[in-house]
Amino acid sequence: MAGVTDYTFRRLIKRRGGVGLVVSEFISVEGLTRHNPKSKRQMHFAEEERPFAVQIFGGQPERMALGAEMAQEVGADILDVNCGCPAPKVVRNGGGSGLLRDLPRLETILKEIKKTITIPLTLKLRTGFSESTINVVEVAKMAEQCGVEHIQVHGRTKEQGYKGLANWDLIKQVKEAVTVPVSGNGDITTIEYGIERWKESGTDGILIGRGAMQNPWIFRQFQDVIEGRKPYQPDLSEKKAVLLEFFGMCREEMPEIVALGKMKQLAGQFTKGLIGGAQFRQTLYHSHSAEEILDNITIYFNTLAADSNYGDGMVEADAAASDSCDMFASGGDVSTSVAAV
Ligand SMILES: Cc1cc2nc3c(=O)[nH]c(=O)nc-3n(C[C@H](O)[C@H](O)[C@H](O)COP(=O)(O)O)c2cc1C
Repeated sequence: MAGVTDYTFRRLIKRRGGVGLVVSEFISVEGLTRHNPKSKRQMHFAEEERPFAVQIFGGQPERMALGAEMAQEVGADILDVNCGCPAPKVVRNGGGSGLLRDLPRLETILKEIKKTITIPLTLKLRTGFSESTINVVEVAKMAEQCGVEHIQVHGRTKEQGYKGLANWDLIKQVKEAVTVPVSGNGDITTIEYGIERWKESGTDGILIGRGAMQNPWIFRQFQDVIEGRKPYQPDLSEKKAVLLEFFGMCREEMPEIVALGKMKQLAGQFTKGLIGGAQFRQTLYHSHSAEEILDNITIYFNTLAADSNYGDGMVEADAAASDSCDMFASGGDVSTSVAAV
């Protein structure tokens, strides 16, 4: 996720366990191949993140191939091509979901990249440009012919943006149409929903985006359920510790002002559904220094701990995750991987 799955966030998530694969933010090949410092920084990763996929975007085949080569050179394990971003600036330049309505260009891009790299090439798709031009099955078949080794489908069209729900029937159709592994993506924020979609679609894996910001343990919980255990439930002190860990990493790795923004972004998602979360978010948004943020975190978690309603720290979503353990144990054979995108 652009602006989210940077070096800092990816390690935070990876350290919680259960993550099959982490993927970089999408990186502009126009920036990368012109040695733009931001694009280069976005490719930076740590050994603890492996396997690590770099995702690139762009509309020019030569630049895409060059960008892919650069990702391979820095040691990425997988090269992923973005064919889903709906941002007007990206689409206007022929990249992201713009490629969904220019298949000859996409085909050239994939073939040029394949000629250039030896690491696996994967493709992230939306279901089509618009409701009336859904073509994800056709695109997936073409991509397979070009040598793409894994296809990920976010079950929405470009025009849908993030509205409505992802269409997992279309994801299932892709899985049935190609022989390479297919992963599904869209709206998985609970273990229960994720396992249902995974099983029903028959896909090889699932991708989780926004859900990882709300619950960094979601991958570990999936792994627990897949392996027949009750999903791990972090207690309050661990929830507090993860926020502090993230803030500490941000402060070490970026300017203070950026670190404050990142912290507010994560805390905004992380406290969704927590008792008093809305009030806490307001307090954080109005904090102007690291000290204020740290004080507010301490006050919030102390209040929660003192609140007997909170009990063992479980909120509704956690309880549902716990129940889904039994549901999965009774006959699932889904065993591939859960990735952070
Ligand atoms: C803030 C944000 C940034 C995103 N950036 C990217 C990106 O760079 N590359 C990509 O393939 N998808 C990107 N996505 C889409 C997600 O990877 C994912 O496909 C989508 O959010 C649906 O999955 P989810 O419901 O699990 O979040 C982004 C989504 C969000 C919310």
